[in-house]
Formats: sequence, structure tokens, C-alpha cells
Amino acid sequence: MPEAEVLDAHRQFLNQSYRFTRHFYDLSRKYYLFGRDKVLDDLVTERWDTLVEIGPGTGRNIKALMRRRPNARYGGVEPCDEMREHARTRLPEVKMIPGFAETTDYADLLGEPIDRVLFSYCLSMVTDVDAALDRAYDALAPGGEVVVVDFADLDGLPRLGSLGLRTWLKWFHVTPLDPQPIIDRGGLVQYGPRRYYIVGRLTKPVA
Ligand SMILES: C[S@@+](CC[C@H](N)C(=O)[O-])C[C@H]1O[C@@H](n2cnc3c(N)ncnc32)[C@H](O)[C@@H]1O
Repeated sequence: MPEAEVLDAHRQFLNQSYRFTRHFYDLSRKYYLFGRDKVLDDLVTERWDTLVEIGPGTGRNIKALMRRRPNARYGGVEPCDEMREHARTRLPEVKMIPGFAETTDYADLLGEPIDRVLFSYCLSMVTDVDAALDRAYDALAPGGEVVVVDFADLDGLPRLGSLGLRTWLKWFHVTPLDPQPIIDRGGLVQYGPRRYYIVGRLTKPVA
């Protein structure tokens, strides 16, 4: 579990980083946070009633899901004050709480069992992926799933492109996601084109 000072420094970094960019965040990220819409398309074909997104940012994923599954209940856990306020204004009906993926207990956030916990380009920013995955898994209802989409190892890109992107991501405290913690927990991982992104799924048994 990360130290409190480490998390506090991370929160300050997030607030600084997103203070201005949140206004054009959705438009700019459209061009490099690939795979998100495919994951949302898959989610709307499945049976679930409750979904919590960890690190929902501006709330664009929840908003898109709400349009297509208006009767489901949604929540979010977001450590960045600037992003959380932005998402709250945009989606006042969604329960958004402050907190980190690694340390926040959100199992009771919706007052009913959680069918899906979504991490969309969030785990690549968390300090302790194992702790974040364990919390998500523990918060799930039987038969529920942790759903992950995030940067993969970028190995299918030309070498210079991959190096440049990794360096640029580092400035934003982003580390391409190692899929091993998902695999170690019995989850399944698939790669997007050119190993740019991965989609991971970790299912909790029904009984
Ligand atoms: C790249 S943005 C993705 C936002 C949104 N999920 C999307 O797909 O557009 C990463 C988000 O994760 C949040 N985040 C970063 N570190 C986190 C942590 N340790 N726990 C929870 N959320 C975190 C950031 O504040 C930000 O909102």
C-alpha cells in the first residue's frame, strides 16, 4: 500500500495537471486513448445493473454508458479534485467520491452489489496496481467483473514511436500497464492493434 505522502503528492500532481486540460480533455484524448469505445460497446451488450468507474476523469465513459443503459446505477471514485468537480457538474445524478484506487473502500458506494468495476486508462497511473485490483475484486458482486482498458507495451509500434510515446507518457506519470497482475489473478487479457492497448477482464465466480 502506498504511503499517505506519496498519494498526497500524486493528488497534487493530478490537480495541477488537469486544472486546465480538463476543458479540452475529451477532445484531445480521443486521439490516443484507444480501445475505450470498444470496451463500452461490449459492456452495453452484457447483463449488469451497477457499475463503478475508478478514475472516471471528466465522466465521459459513464456519460456514454448512461445514454445507452439509462436504468443502470453508476458511481465513480476520483482522487483529482478538479476532475471530480467537473464530472459532478456534468453528471449530478452519479455518486462520485474522492479517493484512490489503492486505498478507498467503495464496495458500498451504490448501496447494492457492484456488477462492474471499470478502469479506463487509470491503472497505468496508479502507484500500486495489485492493491487497486484486489480492492476492485473484493468490491464485486458474485459473477461481477473488473474491466480494464489501458496502454499496453507498445511493442508493435515503430521503435522511435514507441520510445517517444513512452517518454511523453512518463511526463504525465503514466506507465504502460503490465498485464501480469491481471493474469496472476486468473483474468484474461487481449491486445489491441500493434499492442497499443490491452483489455483485461477479471471475473468473480458466481458462488
Ligand atoms: C488518463 S485519465 C482517464 C480518465 C477516464 N477514465 C477516461 O477513460 O477518459 C486517468 C484518470 O485516473 C485518475 N487517477 C490517477 N491516479 C489514480 C489513482 N491512484 N486512483 C484512482 N484514480 C486515479 C486520474 O485523476 C484521471 O481521472
